[in-house]
Amino acid sequence: TRNIELAVVAGDGIGTEVVDQGLAVLEAAVAGEDVAISTTPFELGAKRWHATGETLTDADLESIRAHDAILLGAIGDPTVPSGVLERGLLLKLRFALDHYVNLRPGKLYPGVTSPLADPGDVDFVVVREGTEGPYGGVGGAVRVGTPHEIATEVSVNTAFGVERVVRDAFARAQARPRQHLTLVHKHNVLVHAGHLWRRTVDAINAEFPDVTTDYLHVDAATIFLTTNPSRFDVIVTDNLFGDIITDQAAAITGGIGLAASGNINPDRTAPSMFEPVHGSAPDIAGQGKADPTATVLSVAMLLDHLGLSEASARVEAAVAADLVERGGRVRSTAEVGRDLAQRIAR
Ligand code: IPM
Ligand code: MN
Repeated sequence: TRNIELAVVAGDGIGTEVVDQGLAVLEAAVAGEDVAISTTPFELGAKRWHATGETLTDADLESIRAHDAILLGAIGDPTVPSGVLERGLLLKLRFALDHYVNLRPGKLYPGVTSPLADPGDVDFVVVREGTEGPYGGVGGAVRVGTPHEIATEVSVNTAFGVERVVRDAFARAQARPRQHLTLVHKHNVLVHAGHLWRRTVDAINAEFPDVTTDYLHVDAATIFLTTNPSRFDVIVTDNLFGDIITDQAAAITGGIGLAASGNINPDRTAPSMFEPVHGSAPDIAGQGKADPTATVLSVAMLLDHLGLSEASARVEAAVAADLVERGGRVRSTAEVGRDLAQRIAR
């Protein structure tokens, strides 16, 4: 029996609700396999911060590090100052565990209504850099609150960091039927970082001669995501551009209730972390009406990452079938989870 140790960070708001269903589906997915999953819950997020002032202690981090993977619900709460949990917990996990590939599929499943009139066959994946760019906290503010305030947020791009994420994106493009990679950046303005990204893509292309590439400035990329999203196969981009265009990707493929993600450490020097793209949705928290599908699709990515590709395919197939049949029906979080688990069990 293969033992899988899963760290569970349910977090805030709807996080616990969707994670409960994600775990139920996970159990159903491995039921036929010689796999045992043991979960360790970590009490992290707003409640913990209010009680102790802690976001993520070294002890928490080391304990999480000892697991095979992490399932995360959502982090963030209006009662906590903006940035405290985002930086102190979510980004700290991504950085400390070297999740340099933030993988975010943009797939329009049959039966799902897109806000686009004629979306075409939308099936791309965004490889968002996860450890650098403007997310690193480099910068500061002087003369705060005065008319002379100066605030800087420095985007850090290292040759090492860009190269490893670009190579990962090429490998993913190579493994897909269309074998196409689009670099999204803004090198006409952000010339230093932009040229590093461009040169890196050109250089790594030699290792993947079957992969064709093109380039879009991020502003133009948002236009094409609306007018012609089926043109995209793999997109590689920096941390902040990736954050923005993956919300747009979610919007055109059925909304953030369906958008899954993996924060991946491809070198496997630390556990990877799987989470829905959506946040803690305090406005609907506790009402049992959040759609757990994004978490369930993140569970599919988790299974795939752990090498359980058949179980992963069963989960995705269950979601795909559910999406075809759901129509306008309104179900609770638990009902969607139950329906998905039952489909897998059949
Ligand atoms: C996301 C979120 C996070 C990000 C925030 C909460 C730090 O928006 O996962 O997309 O910007 O990466
Ligand atoms: Mn985001």
